[in-house]
Amino acid sequence: MDKEVVNIVDRRTGAAYDLPFFKGAVRAMDLRQIKTGPEDFGVMTYDPAFLNTASCQSAITFIDGDKGILRYRGYPVEQLAENCTFLEVAYLLLNGELPSALELKQWVEAITTHTMLHETTKKFLEGFRHNAHPMGMFISTVAALSTVYPESRHVLDPEIRRLQIRRLIGKVPTIAAYTYRHSLGFPYVYPDNDLSYAANFMNMLWKMVEPKYQANPVLARALDILFILHADHEQNCSTNVMRAVGSSQADPFLATAAAAAALSGPLHGGANEEVLRMLDEIGTKDRVHAYVDSVKAGKGKLMGFGHRVYKNYDPRARIIKWAAGKVFEVTGGNPKLEIALELERIALEDEYFIKRKLYPNVDFYSGIMYQAMGFRPEMFTVLFAIPRTVGWLAQWQEMIEDPEQKIARPRQIYTGYEARNVVPMEKRAAAAVTA
Ligand code: CMC
Repeated sequence: MDKEVVNIVDRRTGAAYDLPFFKGAVRAMDLRQIKTGPEDFGVMTYDPAFLNTASCQSAITFIDGDKGILRYRGYPVEQLAENCTFLEVAYLLLNGELPSALELKQWVEAITTHTMLHETTKKFLEGFRHNAHPMGMFISTVAALSTVYPESRHVLDPEIRRLQIRRLIGKVPTIAAYTYRHSLGFPYVYPDNDLSYAANFMNMLWKMVEPKYQANPVLARALDILFILHADHEQNCSTNVMRAVGSSQADPFLATAAAAAALSGPLHGGANEEVLRMLDEIGTKDRVHAYVDSVKAGKGKLMGFGHRVYKNYDPRARIIKWAAGKVFEVTGGNPKLEIALELERIALEDEYFIKRKLYPNVDFYSGIMYQAMGFRPEMFTVLFAIPRTVGWLAQWQEMIEDPEQKIARPRQIYTGYEARNVVPMEKRAAAAVTA
């Protein structure tokens, strides 16, 4: 008897079906043969929010949510954070292997030649109101790059793809820094290609009148580590958007803007900003208990806690907690850290959180660290979007090269009216609800 099949009996017809396993899963299309007759469409799966559906095969990132494991191309994220730079990790995610010294030199050169923005894009940014949210400016400006590089729509050409990937990785820190300077009303600072990826970003954020910006090496390294930790996270909400939009063969600037829009939501990358608001609302350590009780009573969520995949401590949160300590040695502590530590302590001992396996996620400590570095909460999600652009692009490239992928187009279970006729206006009753 073949053990590599699942046997399904349709009690409606009595028919039995052997569905082969494919890498531990069952292909949803194999269910379509299960029908009551020739007119029947066949069985579909119903899975709102993709709780149990693999939408692709991917060799990029591995997560074991129960064990709290995260690996890029097989390498534990802890080892990458300790031993590599962000651009090395970007190369790894995109190419599958860590670069040699020569490959890294060429790769860094390739990225740094794409850090400038076209002057018209700079002017485009100037059109935003002074109080525009940096994430809104970031998303719109990334989308606007599509108009600067119209050849980017030839997504099936590997050389064209390669160039857009370099452009995007080179330009997202520049766009991010310009959104920051714009909200402060400061002049934009051009990239300094002598500096590392993170140090150049700091230069574009914080350089004033000094002839050469000197980045604090501890802060530059902490930022680089944060970039590594945020670089990819398999099929999360924004990556799924990147793949879905990219599957229509839209250009990568538009697909990246769409992915960044998904990231901006408070349940995804916007959570780090919400963590800070929550800590402000709690105010003092002695009010943590009452706040946790209100969450348990259904009044909101503990932001920075819980994850669809991790049912254990998010490995990224552990490294960020460590890196935050290093940052505080330079910047001085953030008073919110005390509240956050107390919140973590209380939540991890509480039956409600234990039962639901809710642990701190990547966003819990990153905001406190960003704030100590001088960022306002509005910038936090933009800081997430810079490195995640690499993950989106790696996943986009993998999707384009995958012969099994087609335009993403889910099915639905229709629950509306059967066919009905339009009633003339004079015979229509007033509807109870207006759209
Ligand atoms: N605080 C309190 N209760 C929670 C929380 C939380 N942060 N997260 C989940 N729960 C409860 C939820 O109410 C549900 O309880 P019950 O079974 O009684 O209905 C149970 O835990 C399962 O939660 P769920 O909503 O089914 O889980 P999900 O996988 O759909 O949602 C999540 C995952 C990350 C959206 C959610 O945990 C959440 O909203 N967390 C807060 C926002 C946050 O920190 N997001 C950042 C995620 S990590 C970075 C990223 O991906 O961008």
